[in-house]
Amino acid sequence: MDRPELEAVTIVIFGASGDLAHRKIVPALHSLYATAVLHPDSRILGVSRRPQSDAEFREGLRESCARHSRCWKDGKGWEAFASMASYLQGDVDDPSCYGLLARRLEEGLPRNLLFYLAISPDQFSRVARGLEGAGLGSVGREAAKEGSWRRLLVEKPFGTDGKSAHELNRVLSSVFDEGDIFRIDHYLGKEVVQNLLYFRFANSVFEPLWNRRYIEKVEIDVLETQGIGTRGGYYDRAGAARDMLQNHLIQLLCLAAMEPPSSLDPEAIRDEKVKVLRSIPRYTTEAYHERSARGQYRGGRGAGGESLPDYLGEAKVAPASLTETFASLRLEVDNWRFAGVPFILRTGKALDRGASEIRVHFRRPPATLFAGVCSENLPTNEIVIRIQPDEGIWLNFNAKEPGSAEIERKELRFSYAKGGGESLPEAYERLLADAFAGDSTLFIRADETEEAWRVVDGLELAWLSPGAPRLIGYPAGSSPDDPLFGKAGT
Ligand SMILES: NC(=O)c1ccc[n+]([C@@H]2O[C@H](COP(=O)([O-])OP(=O)(O)OC[C@H]3O[C@@H](n4cnc5c(N)ncnc54)[C@H](OP(=O)(O)O)[C@@H]3O)[C@@H](O)[C@H]2O)c1
Repeated sequence: MDRPELEAVTIVIFGASGDLAHRKIVPALHSLYATAVLHPDSRILGVSRRPQSDAEFREGLRESCARHSRCWKDGKGWEAFASMASYLQGDVDDPSCYGLLARRLEEGLPRNLLFYLAISPDQFSRVARGLEGAGLGSVGREAAKEGSWRRLLVEKPFGTDGKSAHELNRVLSSVFDEGDIFRIDHYLGKEVVQNLLYFRFANSVFEPLWNRRYIEKVEIDVLETQGIGTRGGYYDRAGAARDMLQNHLIQLLCLAAMEPPSSLDPEAIRDEKVKVLRSIPRYTTEAYHERSARGQYRGGRGAGGESLPDYLGEAKVAPASLTETFASLRLEVDNWRFAGVPFILRTGKALDRGASEIRVHFRRPPATLFAGVCSENLPTNEIVIRIQPDEGIWLNFNAKEPGSAEIERKELRFSYAKGGGESLPEAYERLLADAFAGDSTLFIRADETEEAWRVVDGLELAWLSPGAPRLIGYPAGSSPDDPLFGKAGT
């Protein structure tokens, strides 16, 4: 999609004093400003309840940008960026907040409006309704005629199940047109994830092999070394399946499995992703039991040797909580291309490694020729799309060991790491830039989120039924490959 000319925008951040605003959103805006992707006449208006002056708000942002902005450069240009930011004390639960906001927006701020919901998910509908009441929605408005647009950026989690996601979609779409709603899954903003489409569809060597005939299985991992930290209040109600599997892992599955879209148009790409989701069977309860595993971390040593508490001892976790901090699920994409190929999704906290990757295992070649050198165990070829750390793509293949007849595994590796300390744009930079440009390719469409919930709702329901896999207590620092997680999902 061609980028439209840069336009000034007012970015209204609900939850401006929170963790996400300080660690991700504002540092990303700072980098976009520093790299001339944010129009210099733009404005940032922070909204949250605590009282603070503009000067105090800016001082807090300065500390956050110094720590988290990719383009900090010892604060060069900070004053100019800071002068874009101001603060509005407001409670989103109080209807008068929206009138105040509407009046502030009339005070000469850019008329293109991007509302960023960096608040608790149970406040999303209320804010949408509040914006509607203040005449700040986009439904029924002709952006071209008005000469300005209005867009809504929504953080994850999008609902807590299919029903709540559907209801949230209903409310949001009564205030903002679907094309103006940008549902974030920040994994899609990562360079290597975007590259997956280029890798698959801009090369002729991989795509002919990308099907059930050559692929034995696909593993998708999003593994973390840390525990839940201070997120107990939210996490204990969600768990690994709702927090990670429903969004990041299923999105990666869609990109790995989708058919070539008819164009790079956002709708064409999202249509193909929805087709993948619809091809995931409706499993029975017993089938979910057989194809899933779940665990909860116990105290132990983290990957770096630090001691991690038992999940049940974490702040704001119920004393007898049955919430899973590890989940694995084996899915099939039951279409012509992938019928019978397992897609194994695993995610968890407090594990022995932090790694996000898609690993495509190809079928073993007939070993007859080399049976003498490696018995039946001729290593298989793998393509690994590594999202973090060490972003890159590599291909494992077999070669002859020099000076002997043995087979050894070799690697062709493409790495994103560049010399000179130059870093890749942060996912949030890319996503914000796309939202300014009105490009929704990397955002989740309403039907995608509901279809993804359909898969996870089935799992959650099955886990509440008799015969569900037991919740395995695993010592912090365990490997996800440890047999204690059982065979399910492998
Ligand atoms: N943090 C992350 O890394 C992360 C990652 C992915 C998604 N998210 C999502 O992003 C959202 C925000 O997360 P967070 O970690 O930033 O949460 P947080 O640190 O708890 O921040 C919440 C923010 O909302 C404000 N707030 C709370 N109640 C309010 C009200 N009634 N009116 C106005 N403002 C109110 C708080 O400020 P006051 O107390 O001053 O009002 C604070 O600024 C959540 O939906 C979360 O799921 C976060």
